[in-house]
Formats: sequence, structure tokens, C-alpha cells
Amino acid sequence: MLTLLLALVFPIRCAGQPPIPVTAQSVGYELLEDAAASAQIEMFGDFSCDETAAAWGNIVKPLLETFQTGGLSLIFRPFPLPYHHNSFDAAQSARAIIEHLSSNNNSVAKAAFVVADAFFTQQTRFMSWQTPNPTANMTQSEVITTIFADIAVSVGMPRTSFQQAVGVGWNTNANGPFSPTRDAWKYAAARGVCSTPTFTANGVFSEALDDWDIAAWTDWIQAANAASHQVYAETEQIHAQS
Ligand SMILES: *[C@@H]1O[C@H](CO)[C@@H](O)[C@H](O)[C@H]1NC(C)=O
Ligand SMILES: *[C@@H]1O[C@H](CO)[C@@H](O)[C@H](O)[C@H]1NC(C)=O
Repeated sequence: MLTLLLALVFPIRCAGQPPIPVTAQSVGYELLEDAAASAQIEMFGDFSCDETAAAWGNIVKPLLETFQTGGLSLIFRPFPLPYHHNSFDAAQSARAIIEHLSSNNNSVAKAAFVVADAFFTQQTRFMSWQTPNPTANMTQSEVITTIFADIAVSVGMPRTSFQQAVGVGWNTNANGPFSPTRDAWKYAAARGVCSTPTFTANGVFSEALDDWDIAAWTDWIQAANAASHQVYAETEQIHAQS
């Protein structure tokens, strides 16, 4: 009865109320940053989801290449699915490696790209629902200290620095990767994401986006920029007339 009363007086905080992210970067990595772009894409992805890896290769990488000089802002938001049981540790590990590389004179965008690419490329080493599951007989700490540490080393983070940053994966240290990785998950869950990859186009979720290929995305980005130039030109004209 008391519990019920307390629940009525202090409603349990749940969906829709994720923690306020400490930094924008704690809930997503800006891979392409163009403040003036009229097109913004978010990709919610899981490092051990093969469809996320496919979209990374077929959509994200070509878009980064095509729009590197402007017109697109692209954010990658890690969303580790609970039923891919190495995913949360992959996301924590990736965060630790990105922080290491970006504190060593790389931009966050460059570091996040290199690290995400390495995880997707080496995905079959830790994707847990393969048959046979390559990590079936490994402990959580073995997966981290062998597979994820190898990925860290492959992109230039020393094994010892990686192990200090991630520990055995249950790292509740406020400065470690655990809290922001959890915040990123809550952020996405509160926005209704439940599968990967999930894209937004200028902030909007739409099932139609699941079927867009690189040509469809490119057309949309070009149309968005053309439309905004049109509006800009019309505004200029109004100013010139007044
Ligand atoms: C860091 O980057 C800047 C700008 O690219 C460069 O001038 C500087 O030498 C770099 N420092 C190190 C330690 O690499
Ligand atoms: C895990 O251990 C079981 C039992 O020894 C064995 O049958 C299986 O092949 C092992 N799996 C892998 C991926 O090593």
C-alpha cells in the first residue's frame, strides 16, 4: 500500500526522461559537421549488427565522401541492442578508443570514423548471434581484453591504455566510458529507437528511410540544399526590393 502511495506521489521516471547528456558528444558523434547544411542525418547503429555494418558501408561511407566539402551534417549514435550481448561492451570500448584518439590531436569526427569503421570491419569476431557464436566460450572480460583490445591496437591505442580505460567492462567510474554509453542508449530509447540501423532525415523518423539507398539519400540531400538556396535567393531579393 505504501509502495502504491509512493508510486502515485512520486511517479517512476521512465520513457521520455533520459539524463541530460553531459556533452552532445556523449550521445552521438558528428562525423560530418556543417552548421549551414540543410540536410541532417542521424544514424542509430549497433557495432555487432550486420545490417548496421552494411548501411555503414553502403550509405554512410559514400555520403561522407560525397559531402565532405559541405551540404550535410551526419551524426552517428551508438545504440547497443541488448540481444546482441557483446554490443554494450563494444560501444563502451569504441568510446574509450575515440576519446584516446581524439585527445591525441585527431578531431572527434576523424577518430569516431576510424574507430567505427574498425569495429564494423572486424564485426564477425564478436557478433554473438552467429552460428557458431565465436565468443560462446569466452568471458565478458576475455572478449574485452582480447578482441576489443586488438581493435584498439589496430587503430593506434596502446593495449595498456585501453585496458585502463575499459577495465573488465563494468566500469562505473564517472570518467570512464560506461556512463556516457548508457546515456547514449537511454537517449535513443527515449526517442523511440528499437532496432538498428535507424535513420532520421532532418530529425524525422520514417519507415520509408529503411528502404532508401545511396541514390535516394543523395537526391534528398541535394534537394534540401537546393531548396534552401532557393529560399535564400528569394530572401535576398526581398531585401534588395525593400
Ligand atoms: C597537432 O595538430 C596541429 C594542427 O594540425 C599541428 O600543427 C601540430 O603539430 C599537431 N601536434 C602534434 C603533437 O602532432
Ligand atoms: C564451446 O564449447 C563447447 C563445449 O566444449 C564446444 O562444443 C563448442 O564448439 C565451443 N564453441 C566455440 C565457438 O569454441
